[in-house]
Amino acid sequence: MLQVITRVPAKINPVLSVGPARRDGYHDLATVFHAVSLYDEVRARAGDDLTVTMSGPYAGGVPSDATNLATRAARALAKRAGVPAKARVDVHKAIPVAAGLAGGSADAAGVLRACDALWELGASDTELATVAATLGSDVPFALAGGTAVGTGRGERLRGITVGTTLHWVLAVASRGLSTPDVYRRLDELRSGVSVPEPAVGEAILTALAGGDPGAVAASLRNDMQEAAVALRPELADTLRAGREAGALGGIVSGSGPTCAFLARDGEHSGELAARLDASGTCAQVLQVTGPARTGD
Ligand code: C5P
Repeated sequence: MLQVITRVPAKINPVLSVGPARRDGYHDLATVFHAVSLYDEVRARAGDDLTVTMSGPYAGGVPSDATNLATRAARALAKRAGVPAKARVDVHKAIPVAAGLAGGSADAAGVLRACDALWELGASDTELATVAATLGSDVPFALAGGTAVGTGRGERLRGITVGTTLHWVLAVASRGLSTPDVYRRLDELRSGVSVPEPAVGEAILTALAGGDPGAVAASLRNDMQEAAVALRPELADTLRAGREAGALGGIVSGSGPTCAFLARDGEHSGELAARLDASGTCAQVLQVTGPARTGD
């Protein structure tokens, strides 16, 4: 029986600049999305109706009902294409849930790619990106992979080139954080303060293009970090442990609580991972590289 398999990577944000709250409740962003080599895998086969199952180390904690982003992705694509939503989908989750790594967005993007192939829709990248943007701000980037500057809610993308493979160490926390909660706390921290329009800045783009990890480390910036640390004070310990372990730089990933640390190369990444693990300041340590590709 025909089975479509696609892999979609997690992302981190080397720069995440957050503007003021908009009337629709979202925030305008200027961010660099960077896909890393930690993948969820989506398998889709023909079925009599739509079933979505979750497997793998992080399957627990993801709802398997109609609120599941993978389920919503299959229904949204079927509706747009005017076909019945019939598929047996399994999502193998290796990306931690509610971790600031866009794992749910990766699953939605994987379902869009897999069901497009299974149902032989032949949708263009632009058509898939349009459906993706209705599912979540990070879903269009998950479809694209690589490295990109994101604006708007994060759904407007411009792909950029990175001059080298970057080696990151991810410190995963034992509990996730809710993205809306972190945005809310950020708004509280900023109340009464005039917030400038978001901007990525030239430094990170030059550093990425030049492929210099030290310059990338010096340009890391996340406006959500303070809010994530306010909600999870122990993240300050994780960030300090990464610095003390010799990371070139460290940052909370997206809305957290995962922290991403940059290493010089593969060997340094191994040393950093071992030291971070020994620090006892996080539940799990993962070595990844970026940019990673979305695909099969
Ligand atoms: O778009 P997505 O569903 O991933 O966003 C989840 C929540 O994160 C939104 O409901 C909103 O509270 C917050 N958010 C935001 N500004 C963005 C993206 C997300 O305020 N640009």
